[in-house]
Formats: sequence, structure tokens, C-alpha cells
Amino acid sequence: MNSLDDSLIAEDIDEYLLKHENKSLLRFITCGSVDDGKSTLIGRLLFESRALFDDQLDTVTAESKKWGTQGKDVDLALLVDGLAAEREQGITIDVAYRFFSTDRRKFIVADTPGHEQYTRNMITGASTADAAIVICDARQGVLTQTRRHTYLLSLLGIRNVILAVNKMDLMEYDESVFTAIVDEFRAFIEPLSINEVIAIPLSALTGTNIIEPGRQTPWYHGPTLMSCLETIELDNEHARGKPFRLPVQWVNRPNLDFRGFSGMVVSGTVKPGDSIRVQPSGSGSVVERIVTFDGDLAVAMAGQSVTLTLRDDIDISRGDVISTADEPASTAEQFECTVFWMHEAPLFPGRPYLLKIGTRTIPASITTIKYQVNINTLEHVAAKQLGLNSIGVCNINTEQAVAFDSYKDNRDTGSFVLIDRASNNTVGAGMLHFALRRSDNIHMQAVDIDKNRRSILKGQKSCVVWFTGLSGSGKSTIANLVEKKLATAGHHTYLLDGDNVRHGLNKDLGFTDADRVENIRRISEVATLMVDSGLIVLTAFISPFRSERQLARNLVKDDEFLEVYVETPLALAEERDPKGLYKKARRGELKNFTGIDSPYEPPQQAEISVDTSAMDAEQCADAVIAELRRRGMLAIPEVG
Ligand code: ADX
Repeated sequence: MNSLDDSLIAEDIDEYLLKHENKSLLRFITCGSVDDGKSTLIGRLLFESRALFDDQLDTVTAESKKWGTQGKDVDLALLVDGLAAEREQGITIDVAYRFFSTDRRKFIVADTPGHEQYTRNMITGASTADAAIVICDARQGVLTQTRRHTYLLSLLGIRNVILAVNKMDLMEYDESVFTAIVDEFRAFIEPLSINEVIAIPLSALTGTNIIEPGRQTPWYHGPTLMSCLETIELDNEHARGKPFRLPVQWVNRPNLDFRGFSGMVVSGTVKPGDSIRVQPSGSGSVVERIVTFDGDLAVAMAGQSVTLTLRDDIDISRGDVISTADEPASTAEQFECTVFWMHEAPLFPGRPYLLKIGTRTIPASITTIKYQVNINTLEHVAAKQLGLNSIGVCNINTEQAVAFDSYKDNRDTGSFVLIDRASNNTVGAGMLHFALRRSDNIHMQAVDIDKNRRSILKGQKSCVVWFTGLSGSGKSTIANLVEKKLATAGHHTYLLDGDNVRHGLNKDLGFTDADRVENIRRISEVATLMVDSGLIVLTAFISPFRSERQLARNLVKDDEFLEVYVETPLALAEERDPKGLYKKARRGELKNFTGIDSPYEPPQQAEISVDTSAMDAEQCADAVIAELRRRGMLAIPEVG
């Protein structure tokens, strides 16, 4: 602790506390290969600064508890920030965050393991980092892991990259060793979007160039690691120079006279009198006041949480983005993006997920995986799905338009996470590149004859009766009987059956998980069109995954969907084995067979289950029709 601090504590404890409270905070991540000395380096930084911190803590807590609790609060607040907040949603990604402080700054360091299987940990740690230290061993130079980590940092747009060439003591502090490594590293990053690298020769073990310039490296004239960390520009500071963006967290309406829009300014600055535009609606207004708990502000900047009031009473809701009118955010619903997959269950194109961008959460799905990137060689490879820790360039479609910026322009309004709809787990993270098409260029064509007219002509209400169950469970048999009974009663029906559709529309699809997802996605869309045409549609597909059955359900109205679970134990389906496929699968001649080596997720809330071990097909069909009738789905529509 320096003597200035000493006397400040003695004379004016409040002033001292304020000084520390107002210190800026840098978040950084350390990466590199296993033996590069990462933990020694972190240990060294903590040791050098913690000594200082603990020293202050003792003195201060003797006078007041304030510093101690505040320090803890900052730490906790940050721990639940960014992707780390997704822990609450059940994700278990192990990132150790450590907190330390020097006279000039506070620091949070995210320490993640370096192996490829921990890529998601690194992405999580780096997602909120202002800077990264890439550590490499002076004896080893640039390794595959160094390259992989650096590539990930470049994708995440980390602006401050420090190359720490460690263990220089073991190479006799030889300048040529250092220069060769730095040259190799610079050549590697040339095509990547990393602007500048600060390279430092050091030894975490001896402390050379960590806090004090090392006598052993007289040829090095750059900063020490700590002075570098203490002075590099924070993201918040950098974001102030960008166009103003405030994703609306909530609308504040304590009484009829006050309507404020609260959230954090993620980039730029804003003043009363500034013209703004609200996206995606596009309405404009002028900022009237910037309200905070401590009174109104004359200006608010990136990193501050505020409430804005506007001159006009325009419609704004949570999830909208308030932008400067001069350079507003864009809006679109189809994008090209990079996706990191962070979950054991792979990403499948066509599967519905929730996309969270800023303060907005909406349904979305990947429409195409353009390619996957081999993160060790940076090669592009074809992919039908993305597994845990893989990275792909994809097209994504959101259910409604969202406000966004390209990630390279704005890390906050250009990034998103993908959430599994059933478990609420965060399963992926991504960065938007550009819009593929604007929703306002493609309109829904209004037609004069609608579903209602078509249904009335047929004297029925249209709906989907969705049969699901194992192969050989009896779906097709029961669906066929139900259709016969409905047709006999004068209804207009159509039966979409797995085996038949796979001979035509879906003949390009096999039985991998990815193909089954696409199979059911297409069937869901076809069934929806048929409902629109006024038909009672019956579908008989294994449809093994809950996600896609939910997708099918969501495409029509609540009272237009009846899920029928044909509940037949695997043993019984296998015993029946009408096509001999179970035997083939058991012999290993048929891969990915449902129930054998491919999963079936039974429905949790089917409208009706029929047990074919207890009832015959006729009884099952009658039960389905009775359920349709009970729910009013076979009623004759009212002409109106
Ligand atoms: S789904 O899983 O994508 O919904 P779908 O209902 O279209 O499957 O097709 C299932 C039918 O394809 C089965 O009834 C069976 O006759 C045949 N089939 C061929 N290979 C497989 C397989 N690996 N798994 C399941 N069914 C298969």
C-alpha cells in the first residue's frame, strides 16, 4: 500500500473508500495450454495484489465494514452477469472467477481450462471480458491450443489481446526466442479480426515484467503485465464512442403522469433533447429526461442504468431497443451468424429454440448450417448438426423482427444466446453477421377465401390429429381406422403417414436425429397448410422428439391440435415387428432404429393416450373419435 493511501485512510476514511469504489473494473480471461504456467501467472497476480487488498481490508474493516461488503457485492454482481447468469437456468459451466484489486483498478479474472472439451467454458468466460492474456511457454512457442484460443478470442471480438511469453527464465531471457514467438503469433492472427497485440516477455515464477520491469530483459521497453492491465481501454469506455443503444428492460409506469423506459445504455451517450428511434417498430421521439435514483442526469453513457422519458407517447415494450435517430439499429428476422454450441444434445436445423438478444426473448430456429469450423485448423467442413463445443456459420430465423447490430459493430446488440424451450437451459451462443432479408420486404399475401370459409364449405372445423409412438406401435393402423370412420360420417380428411411421405416429399431424408427433425418440421408445415384448407388432418409419424411435436402444436391454434400417444411397450412393438425391422436392428443391420439405438421421448401432456396392449385398434380409434367429439372438434362450424 502506498503512503498516500495510508494517510488518506488515517485522515479521511470516506474519501479513501470513495476512491476505491470509483475505480474502474477490468474483466479479463487467461488462456493457453495446460503447462504454459497459467495458474502460476494468476497466482502471481493475486499474490502481488491480494497482499495489497488484504492489507487494506484489515485496516478498513477496523474502521468500517463498508469496503468489505462493497467488495463482495461487486464480485457477486459480476458473477451473475452475462452468460454466467444462465447458470440460474441450469447450465453447469465451470468458470472460476477471481477478484483482485490494485491502487488503480479492480479486476475480475476468468480462469477456464484449456482443453478442447472446455471450449464452452472459455467462451463463457470470454463473453464478458474486456481483455485476454494468451499465455505461451517460451520453450514451446505457439501451439495448437494457443491458436484455437486466439481464434475464439477473435470471434468474440476481444479487442485487447496480451501475448504473455512465459518462462523466459528457462530460455535465459533470450530476445531472439521472444521475437520468433511474437512473429509467429502475429502471422497467425493476420487474417483474424484482432487488431493489436501487446507482447510481453515474462516469468510468472520469478515475477519478471509482471509488476516491475525485469532487469533481465533490458532489450524490452514495453509495459509490464500489471501496468498493461491497469491502463488498457475498457469495453464500456470504448462503447461510449459508438451510436447510442438502450435495450429496454422494463417500462416504468408508477402513475398516469410518468412513463419511463429503463435499461442499461450498452453503447454511446444520450442527453435530453436527443432524437431517438425505437426498434423494431421504427417510431421516433425526443428524450425528455434521464431519470436515476440519484436525480436527473444531463448525460448518460455506456455502462449506466437509467430511465428515459420521451416527449411523445409512443408504444414501447420490454425488448425494444432505443437508438439514436441518426444511426439506428437495424431490424430483421433472418440473419447469418456464428453459433457456438454448448450443450450435449446437438443443434439441429429446424428445431425451435428461444433466442435471447439484449432484453428480448423470442422463438427462433437455425434454417441452415452453412459450414462448421474446425477450431484447430480453421478449415470449413460440411455439417448437418452442431455438437457440443462446435462452431458453425448458420442462417437463423426469428419468429418476429428484432433490433440488432452486426457483432463486429456492437458486441451487445449483436450477440445472442439460444435457450432450449423445454429445459430452459442455455444451449448455444452466437454473433450476428448481417441480415439476410428484411421482413418488411416479404409480406403475407391477404387472400379472400380463408380457413373459416373453406371449413364452412366442408361443414367441419379443421384440425390436426397427431399420432406419435414407436415403430410398430399401431399408429398407422389406428389413424387409418379413425380416418375411415370420419370419412364415413361425411368429414373431409387427409392422412399423412410416415412410410408414404418418405417416398415423396421427404425421400431425401434418412433416420439421423437431424433428418428426423427436418422430417417432422416439413410435416408440421404441410399439416398446417392442410388445416388452413379446411381439412381434418391425421399424421402418423414416430415423431420421437418433444421439441418438434411442440413445434407442430405451436403452428396451429390450441383447440386445433390433438396429440394421440399410441402407448405400446417396446417389447410388444418388437414382438409384433410387422416389417421385420426390429430384428434387423437387433442384428445391427439397421442403424439408428427408434427404441433400440435412437431415442423416443414419450409425450408428457398428450390430449389422449391409447394403450394398444389393453385395447384393440377399433377400440383405440373409437376412443380417439370420442375425445375429438368431447372437445368439440367435430362440431359443425357456425356460419357467420
Ligand atoms: S420419424 O422418426 O422421422 O418420425 P417416420 O415416422 O417418418 O419416423 O418413419 C418411421 C418408419 O420408417 C418406421 O415405421 C419404419 O417402417 C421405417 N424405418 C426405417 N428405418 C427406421 C429407423 N432407423 N428408425 C425408425 N423407423 C425406421
